[in-house]
Amino acid sequence: MAVPLWRYLAPGRSRARRVLRVPRAEIPPEGALVFREARVAVMRRDGAVFALDLACTHLGCTVNVTSRQLVCPCHGSTFALDGTPLTGPATRPLGRLEVRDADAHVEVLL
Ligand code: FES
Repeated sequence: MAVPLWRYLAPGRSRARRVLRVPRAEIPPEGALVFREARVAVMRRDGAVFALDLACTHLGCTVNVTSRQLVCPCHGSTFALDGTPLTGPATRPLGRLEVRDADAHVEVLL
């Protein structure tokens, strides 16, 4: 299928981003809502809501979220609940996704 080249070169035009819409009330205090298919965890800590990209920064496996940390099942890297690397081989923090308020929801831009 041919895609017009101008679609990607025209200034001011960007591809639409997907949005994950989460009811704010469903995000547990000091906890997380995990969306494994989207590889996103919406976290609430100290009253702040943020979203982590669950792609491990080592080689991209999907990390698991536990109540104490995030653990990569592939090579054992661990991350603090804010995404900071604790043990390797991963050395970079998990990615933070853009989050915006939308009434009673939180929207995560994917
Ligand atoms: S892919 Fe996560 S530790 Fe290697």
